[in-house]
Parts: sequence; structure tokens; C-alpha cells
Amino acid sequence: MSLKDRKTIVTGGPTREWIDPVRYISNASSGKMGIAVADAASLRSKETVFIHGPIESNLIKNKNYKLVQVETTVDLLNAILNELTPSTVIIMAAAPADYKPAEKHATKIKKEEGTDELVLTLKKNPDILKTIAQKKLADNSLKKVFVAGFAAETDNIETNAVKKLEAKNLDMICLNDVSRKDAGFSTDNNQITIFYKKHDRLKPTYNIEKIELPLLSKAETADRILDFIEAELRSGAE
Ligand code: PMT
Repeated sequence: MSLKDRKTIVTGGPTREWIDPVRYISNASSGKMGIAVADAASLRSKETVFIHGPIESNLIKNKNYKLVQVETTVDLLNAILNELTPSTVIIMAAAPADYKPAEKHATKIKKEEGTDELVLTLKKNPDILKTIAQKKLADNSLKKVFVAGFAAETDNIETNAVKKLEAKNLDMICLNDVSRKDAGFSTDNNQITIFYKKHDRLKPTYNIEKIELPLLSKAETADRILDFIEAELRSGAE
């Protein structure tokens, strides 16, 4: 099976977790990386869906694939589960918030006199990729779902990316060094390193291999990621 036989779900952009009616927790993801992957996937895939958090509407004008807008990490998880089919390829370029306020205040939080501090309690959001990994384990019909994650790292970047590849049971992960000024969040270019599991044909074991891509436009990066996924699907590694 190649991409032309498969549905591709691409995610992009940040999520927003509301503190009160006027303030939220979010991050600097522009959605550009996800859009570049969705654009490239729409040329190769049977069907492409781009599920995105709040991003500039100009960036997604006149797209010839399905767009689904979400706000929170929980919304993003539900939207992915809603689109998931046994032949899906998921490419998770979104930057979902790992934590959300333990409660959303019903009214705007007022500035308190007599203290310089405001303490916010956060609680963990679901890990979307881990949830998908659990579903793949529990439901045999989802076994062939191919899952690509991204890792946005600032320190111990390779070790952390490999940990995420394994902990989230991914087929591949694209490491982004987001401490760089010329790549990662909001830029037009990116530099990623792909880590993947090279399976032993005779034994149920694998080695972690890596492919370092040069600094490229996000469009070229997306094409290289899809070339890699095509090759993996063709080799039957999924
Ligand atoms: O949107 P741009 O401005 O173009 O920037 C692109 C990007 C830097 C956001 C993108 O290339 C990128 O690195 N996306 C991943 C951001 C991120 O959340 O990384 P992470 O290392 O925290 O998460 C690892 C993986 O788990 C990611 O695929 C993420 O989508 C996923 N995740 C994260 C949190 C969560 N609760 N559930 C998840 O599944």
C-alpha cells in the first residue's frame, strides 16, 4: 500500500487552553509546517485532512483538501479519532498544549491588591499520540495505521526524540531543534532529523536509524518526509 491508497491526516498549529474568558495558554506554532505537509500530502494521498488549531486564516485559503479547525488539545484528539480509518497515515506536526488550567474561571480574573503573585494550577492534557498507540494495540483493524510524530526539543535533542519515538510507539519522528532561530516555530524553513525503527526481517527486533535533512523550505522538508513515508509503506514496514 502506498500513500495513494491511503487517507492522510495532518495536524498543525498550536492549541489554546483557556484560563478565563479573555486569557489562554498557547505556543508560537504558526501552522506553516503542518500546512506544508498537508499541501504535499494532497498531491500524493487518496484523501487529505488537515486538522489545525488557531492559525492565520490567510495561510489556509483555497486549499483543495478538508480542513477541520479545533481549539484545545482534547478537541484535537477527538477530531483525529473522528477521522481515523484503518488505512490512515497520521502526521502530527501540531504543537498541542501538554497542560491546561485545572479550571477555567467563569469571569475575568481580577488583579489582586496586596500580592504580586497569581498561582495557576495546571493539569495534564491527554497525550494524543499515546492514545492512538493504545488504540492500535487494542484494535487489530488499526494495526496498519502509520504514525509520524514531531519532536520539538531544546536540550538533549536526539535522546529526547528517540524517547518519544519509543514511548509513543511511533513509526518515525521528525526532530526539530527549536532553539535555532532559522528553523522550527514560525519560520519558513526547517531542519529536521528523521528517526525511525529499522525492523529485522527475521526477528521481532529493530534498530533506531536516523536521516539528517539539510535546512530546507518547509515545502521541501514536507516532500522529503513524504518521500520517506512512501518508501516505508512500499517496504511494508508499516
Ligand atoms: O507550526 P510551525 O510554526 O511551522 O512550527 C512547526 C513546529 C515546530 C510546531 C513543528 O515542526 C513541530 O515540531 N511540532 C511538534 C511540536 C510538539 O508538540 O512537540 P513535542 O515534542 O512537545 O511533542 C511530541 C509529539 O507529540 C508531537 O508530534 C506532538 O504533536 C505530539 N503531542 C504533544 C502533546 C500532546 N498532548 N499530545 C501529542 O500527541
